[in-house]
Amino acid sequence: MTVFITGGTGALGTELKKKYPNALAPTHQELDLGDREDVFRFFKDHPDIDVIIHAGALTGIRPCEENQSLAWKTNVEGTRNLVDAVLESKKKIQFIYVSTACVFDGHGEMYKESSIPYPENFYALTKLVGESEVRKLPEFLIARTNFVAKEKFPYPKAFTDRYGTYLFADGVAQGIQDVQKEKLTGIVHIVGDKKMSIFELAKKTTPDVQPMTIKDYSGPKLTMDMSLDTERWKKYKISDP
Ligand SMILES: NC(=O)c1ccc[n+]([C@@H]2O[C@H](COP(=O)([O-])OP(=O)(O)OC[C@H]3O[C@@H](n4cnc5c(N)ncnc54)[C@H](OP(=O)(O)O)[C@@H]3O)[C@@H](O)[C@H]2O)c1
Repeated sequence: MTVFITGGTGALGTELKKKYPNALAPTHQELDLGDREDVFRFFKDHPDIDVIIHAGALTGIRPCEENQSLAWKTNVEGTRNLVDAVLESKKKIQFIYVSTACVFDGHGEMYKESSIPYPENFYALTKLVGESEVRKLPEFLIARTNFVAKEKFPYPKAFTDRYGTYLFADGVAQGIQDVQKEKLTGIVHIVGDKKMSIFELAKKTTPDVQPMTIKDYSGPKLTMDMSLDTERWKKYKISDP
């Protein structure tokens, strides 16, 4: 089975590559998802691809807001390029698109696969439009999730009033491998079994992280409650740091 991972150098991609050690995982430099010709050429050079796990994206909320054309090119057009290359190949390829809890408005519901999205910022919008691109395929899986890398929290402070059903990236990689093996299609939420604040999450790897609230923040609008429920799959326990 030939697996093709996009975003292999990222937080999730690094964990996915451990699950699929023989996967094709070109770096951004080797394959720019926003370059349609590059993407089509990659598929011609690798006619044996059976599974795509599309984790590559421009992920920062602020960078996406500040460079909307790059965010669109990467997250929407990059996904479209992959989808069109799959359609052109006429091969039955299992396509897993990694999406986000941020497609929802985050006003406090436990969002299920059937809940209606309403993005709060440009990053989330591009991820939702990316979902629509993937829906052009006869079969696809949209895996919405929320996680951080299992390493020192990258900021000195963390929100006590933003929530999610978080996992570390290794747990999400496990979940993705589970649904890949199960050949699930449609939408699935890969989530932890416990709602917690980002501060509680950050404390697990970084005991000296300091608390902050949304009042201490200025920048693009944020999704406040990213908690997801699932009516299609099991929930995972967050692993120990
Ligand atoms: N982290 C979260 O909280 C979270 C939550 C829910 C869903 N997600 C989704 O999960 C996926 C992985 O997230 P992550 O946190 O692991 O992201 P990340 O650490 O920011 O990594 C993103 C990856 O995408 C690559 N990339 C960016 N632009 C590219 C382009 N034009 N062509 C090729 N590769 C490109 C990056 O390579 P370079 O660094 O070399 O550019 C990097 O390998 C994303 O689709 C994200 O939307 C993330």
